[in-house]
This record gives sequence, structure tokens and C-alpha cells, in this order.
Amino acid sequence: MGSLPRAAVLAVALLLLLLAPSGEAFFDIFNIFRPRSESDYFQNAFDGAQEQTVPTRAEQEERGAAPATATGLTKVPPSGPPSKAAQDTVELAVDSGAGTAGEWTIVSENSGVSAMHMAVMRHGKAVMFDTSTTGRSLMRLPQDNCRIDPRDQDAGTMDCWAHAVEFDYNTGGLRPLKILTDTWCSSGAFDADGNLVQTGGYFEGEKVVRVISPCDTCDWLEHPNSFADGRWYATQQVLPDGRFIVFGGRRAFSYEFVPAPGKTNARAMSMPFLRETTDDVENNLYPFVNLLPSGNLFLFANDRSVIFDHRDGKIVRELPRLAGGSRNYPASAMSTLLPLDLRNATGGDPEPEVVICGGALKTAFRKGENNTFQPALRDCARINLAAPDAQWQTEDMPVGRVMGDMLILPTGDLLLLNGAAKGCAGWGFGRQPVLTPVLYSPRKPEGPRFRALAASTIARMYHSTSAVLPDASVLVAGGNTNTAYNFSDVDFPTEVRVERFSPPYLSEEHAAANRPEIDGKSVPAEGMRYGSPFTFRFSMPSEPVAEADVKVTMYAPPFTTHGYSMNQRLLVLSVTAFVEDGRRYTVTVDAPGKPELAPRGYYLVFMVAKGVPSIGVWVKIQ
Ligand SMILES: *[C@@H]1O[C@H](CO)[C@@H](O)[C@H](O)[C@H]1NC(C)=O
Ligand SMILES: *[C@@H]1O[C@H](CO)[C@@H](O)[C@H](O)[C@H]1NC(C)=O
Ligand SMILES: *[C@@H]1O[C@H](CO)[C@@H](O)[C@H](O)[C@H]1NC(C)=O
Repeated sequence: MGSLPRAAVLAVALLLLLLAPSGEAFFDIFNIFRPRSESDYFQNAFDGAQEQTVPTRAEQEERGAAPATATGLTKVPPSGPPSKAAQDTVELAVDSGAGTAGEWTIVSENSGVSAMHMAVMRHGKAVMFDTSTTGRSLMRLPQDNCRIDPRDQDAGTMDCWAHAVEFDYNTGGLRPLKILTDTWCSSGAFDADGNLVQTGGYFEGEKVVRVISPCDTCDWLEHPNSFADGRWYATQQVLPDGRFIVFGGRRAFSYEFVPAPGKTNARAMSMPFLRETTDDVENNLYPFVNLLPSGNLFLFANDRSVIFDHRDGKIVRELPRLAGGSRNYPASAMSTLLPLDLRNATGGDPEPEVVICGGALKTAFRKGENNTFQPALRDCARINLAAPDAQWQTEDMPVGRVMGDMLILPTGDLLLLNGAAKGCAGWGFGRQPVLTPVLYSPRKPEGPRFRALAASTIARMYHSTSAVLPDASVLVAGGNTNTAYNFSDVDFPTEVRVERFSPPYLSEEHAAANRPEIDGKSVPAEGMRYGSPFTFRFSMPSEPVAEADVKVTMYAPPFTTHGYSMNQRLLVLSVTAFVEDGRRYTVTVDAPGKPELAPRGYYLVFMVAKGVPSIGVWVKIQ
């Protein structure tokens, strides 16, 4: 910009500033200078040099589509020996005091795309997708199915690489999906019919809403220009009325609701809390959001948290600050709402508790730019939001972790996996991958709550994901700390292998011997109705169980990216009748009373007997 136009712009800005009624407007004005350059933010850890963020011409030159009949999957390029950094991993001594500590298997050597985002859908497949910013993947789109690459200088250039796949987690089978716009660091949630409604992303994708339905031939439908503000690194939450609310994103200090297909939001609602919690490296991206039994939302950003009433757009309460560092991207901690136990909540709401583990020091990103990788935070903090004077209670994990995933298992225990012991999120900013998953049992007393399980052999830090499967095992995928698909001459090669982790409850000594089995035919086809009894049958293969030994849980499948599983929740249902007939049982539970407890949609219902979950069945609540 020449000096004259710059002076003119500044003069106009100054004028607007004088007219601006509040500090908020001050920042909003400056948002018109919101940088749009690809290399605006991302620096790598290599001497603070600017990172290349757009695929080069050479990277994009292989544009051929796969013949219509072929899968389009290309081979994983050979890689060299692991670098020094890659050999520096963290593996804890396995705690086998309580028996087998879990087991890892490889489901696929090549998922075609590296799973930056992942969700398990009710037709028995996972959807995995990356960004189109990385250039070529390992899977071509089928012939006549390429997308126009809006960032190529030559108008009309086609990008023939798949950036999304449907993954069959039982066979490793792949189907390329076609996304037209960039989903880099986007958000998502399921609607009441089990469609994945996926929002935002980068560049041409930042205001887009995309929908994919659960079927073997379904593909993405996209609704451009849905949002008023760009939603890059935003969090999406499903609401009791079935709508979605989307919070934040880079330089988007606002929230808005996902509009009806084809509609455009005229404006976003401003949210000063998101501006107040940003800092020099934006440690408040991908805020943690949870729907509470009251219908209010818990919102955590950086080191502060509030209870927000979306119905009138007001913060109704602020919780104490969580000291010690930052917990949101790029300081990416793990967080979830703890299981909502409806068994003792007759008449009232269950007490909502939130847990946040790990994260990074506020300085981690800046230090990373200078090639210094600070230790990740080691604490787990919990807060009971039902307490009028709620305070954070903290305790230490066996190892610090940043960029980890936190999944709620069907039993109500949490699984902490993936991530690193040093550094923070961002390309090249993680060191010391933690290979050991840790089990966290929230109902046990402090101390024995944590258990180190069997370690994986694969480092998964930045851009890795995981998901609970209907069979109660865990799918683990992705990981790419490079700006492209790089398999050699990098510290951490792009990860396209997919693993399955079988938690201890599926080991021979537990599950194989006596795993409860839900009789699918007995599950009411019309699903659950709020507040009504729900009856089904199950059987035990060898040993009988008593009512006191069983627990019925229902799990909302989340959308997972960047170590955060949006909309993940588990409810423990109240058993009202239990009839035994040999080793066959008829059980009746009370369905959750209202959508504030469990928004409409498909859940995985598990019968847990003596700590061993059945295979889950998909049940719709309405
Ligand atoms: C329910 O409440 C009773 C009485 O306070 C208590 O003994 C029991 O452990 C509670 N059950 C659960 C699952 O919290
Ligand atoms: C990074 O290194 C530069 C040059 O040595 C120094 O000026 C700067 O303060 C360092 N930044 C941090 C966060 O340590
Ligand atoms: C990563 O891969 C891209 C595309 O193949 C290549 O151009 C680039 O040089 C690679 N980067 C490194 C660090 O090897």
C-alpha cells in the first residue's frame, strides 16, 4: 500500500474510531484489516522462518483423476529412518495391576487422507477429512469428479486429489468424498437425523456449511455464504431446539447460529468474552463448549470460563480463572463434560462437571518459534458447575500432554491419548509424542484415578484424531505436523495409518468370557421418547449378572478435530425394571427427560455389565 492510500485509510479509521461508542467497536473497525494472506500467521519452528502454506505448482502438478473404476488410492511413499526428534518419545510403564492394559492393531496402512477431522456415522462408517491446503493426498478423486481449485492462479485449474474419505473401520475400505471448499480447521456436529453438519474452514471455506448424510453413496452438499463471519477454528454446539450455535474462530469475536440451507446470516452476535481472552498467539481458539442440563452453555476460552445463556445472549456467571497456562488452541488441552448420571437425579438435574487436562504455558508458541519446546501442562482440573461457589480442583496426570484427545468410553471412564509432552499445536511445534494412553476414572478417588495403558508405536500429535466405535473400541487416525503430505526428510512423517485401540475391558480375561449382548430385535424401532420408559433385552454368554452389576449408558458421537470432541456426551440412565430369565434379561430405563440433557438425535446405547460394555446399538431420541 502506498503512503497516500495508507494515510487515507488511517484517517478514515481514526474518524470511525472517534465516532465509535465503545471499545468493542474499536476492534470491529480494525477487523476490516483482517489479513487474508495465506502466510499471515503461520510461522514454523525452524528459526521463525515463514512457513509455506500454499501448495506449490510442483506439488499440485499431478492432477490426473483416477479411472472411474479404480479406487484412486496411491502408495505410501517410502520413508527414511526416524529422525532424532521422532525417536524422542514418551512411553510410561504399563500399569497392569488391574489386568490386561489394552491392545493396538492396525486397521489400515493407508487411509488416503490424513484424518485431521473425524466423525463416526450411524451407517457404520467413519468420515475423515483433511484440508485442501496440503495439496496432493494419497487418493485421487474419481474421473470427472475433480474440484476447481480456487487458489490456483490459472482460473479453472482442477484439483483431483481427495481431501475427504468415508472409511470402513471394519475392513479398512475407502470411498473418496468430494469437498469443494477448504475445511481446514473447521467444526461440526450431528443433527437429529444423524447427518453431519459441518461448518467453516479456511479461505473460500470459512463461511460454508456442509452436510453429509449417513449412507454408502452420500457425498457432501455445500451451502456457501452461510455465515456472517469467517469460522476458522470455531466450535459448534448442538442446542436443545436442534439448532447449532458456532462460537469464535480466528479474529471472529462473535457467535452465530447455523442458518437454514441456502440462507445467509446478515450479522453475527458480538461476544466480547472471546476478544478479552485472545492474546498474542490466540490461545483461545476452538473454545470448549458444553450444553448443560439447564439449557445454558459452558464456555471455556484460554484460562477463563463462563456460563452463557444463548436464548438472550447473556453471560449469566463467570467461573474462577484456571491458572497455570492456556488450554485452548494452540495450547490445546483436552476437555469434556463428565458423564451425566441420571440414576440419582430423580426430579432434579444431574450435576454437570467439566474436566480439562493438560495444555501449555502461554509462552509455548512463541518459544516454539525459537526452537524451544516447553513441557506441556500436567494438571487435570475439574469443576462442579452445580456448586454455587464452584472451584477448580486440580490433580496431576502421570505425564503432561498437549494436543491429546479425550474420549468418554461407554463405561463412563475417560481415555486420554495422542498428543505430545512438549511444545504446542502448530506445524512443527510438537516434540516428545506421548505413545501411552491414560485411563481416567472420574468416580475413583484422587490418585488411583489414572492408569497408564498399553502404548502405541505411532506418534500422533498435531492434526490427529480418535473416535469411540460402536463395538466400544477406539479408532485412532491422522497426525500431520507438516504443511504437505511428507513422508521423508521431515521429523514426523505425515501419518496415514489407522489404528484401533481395544481398551482393557475388551481383553480376553474380561469381555470374551462374558460380554453382554443387546438383542437388536428387542430394541424399539421408534427409538426413545423424552421421559418415557425404554425397554430392551440383553443376554450374558456365561455368567449371570445382578441388577447392581449393570449400567445402561448412551453416547452422543462427537465431531473430533484438534484434540477436541465437539458435542461428546455420555448419559448414565436410571434402570427402573430388571427381569431375569436364565442368562437373558429384560431391562427398562427412563429415557432422559428433556433435550437439554440429550439433544435430539442418534446415540449409541450400551449395556455395561461388571465394567464390560456390549456392542452399542444406535437409538434415536426424540
Ligand atoms: C445414589 O445415591 C445414594 C444415596 O445417596 C448413594 O448411596 C449411591 O451411591 C448413589 N448412586 C450413584 C450411582 O451415584
Ligand atoms: C526468540 O529469539 C529472539 C532472538 O534471539 C529473541 O529476541 C526473542 O526474545 C526470543 N523469543 C522468545 C519468546 O523467547
Ligand atoms: C513436503 O512435500 C512437498 C510436496 O511433495 C515438497 O515440495 C516439500 O519439499 C516437502 N517438504 C519437506 C520438508 O520435505
